[in-house]
Amino acid sequence: MKAITFVTQKGGSGKSTLCISLAVAAQEAGQSVCILEMDRQATVTDWAEHRRADTPEVAQIDATQLDDVMARLRDSDFDYVFIDTPGVDSPGSLAAIRAADLCVIPCRPTPADLRAFKPTLAAIYRLEKKFAFVLNQTPPRSYRVRDAADGLAVLGVLPDVNIVTRNDHQDALGMGQGVTEFNPTGQAATEIRRLWTWIAKRSQGLLHVKAA
Ligand SMILES: Nc1ncnc2c1ncn2[C@@H]1O[C@H](COP(=O)(O)OP(=O)(O)OP(=O)(O)O)[C@@H](O)[C@H]1O
Ligand SMILES: [Mg+2]
Repeated sequence: MKAITFVTQKGGSGKSTLCISLAVAAQEAGQSVCILEMDRQATVTDWAEHRRADTPEVAQIDATQLDDVMARLRDSDFDYVFIDTPGVDSPGSLAAIRAADLCVIPCRPTPADLRAFKPTLAAIYRLEKKFAFVLNQTPPRSYRVRDAADGLAVLGVLPDVNIVTRNDHQDALGMGQGVTEFNPTGQAATEIRRLWTWIAKRSQGLLHVKAA
């Protein structure tokens, strides 16, 4: 079992959106996934309540419960546990980084987002955790995205796909679906599937990269 934590204290960068659609994409790729939600905003729990399917299982927990829950999950049949964290620095976020095999840091290509992940990255370095950035809510193409990608690539690992701003992400979540269910042939679905392929390899140590 691998734990993937979606973390950055910048609100609205796409932690919950990516967590949900990647969990669905991982299931479609044959993996069993559960989601631990550590954010009282309950974005993932709300999504699950609108959902027809029973999976992925979603549990809302707080920082004090994480170690016990993870110990139980390590002996379970789940291939992956995804942990969604709040958009503020909190004991929960730190515990979720500590529990992770891979930390995914979603980041919009804006100066504010590019500055805001630094404390998160410092904690990840301190705990010597593997991590990856994901550029989210990007325009399809722009110099700003290329500059942001160049900057992030220097700091650490960046997948070979960015997640473009697309209505499918918002509409899918509203319907209790992942983007690959909502519009399987859309570009948002294609990007999420590619991202899942990359993250799965990174979490399993199958990508040769220089960063942690
Ligand atoms: N690629 C995308 N295209 C379009 N909309 C997106 C995309 N990614 C995220 N959004 C939208 O941006 C908003 C914030 O996303 P989300 O809730 O996933 O961020 P978050 O990092 O979990 O925020 P918080 O820190 O508050 O938990 C949501 O309304 C979501 O639908
Ligand atoms: Mg969220």
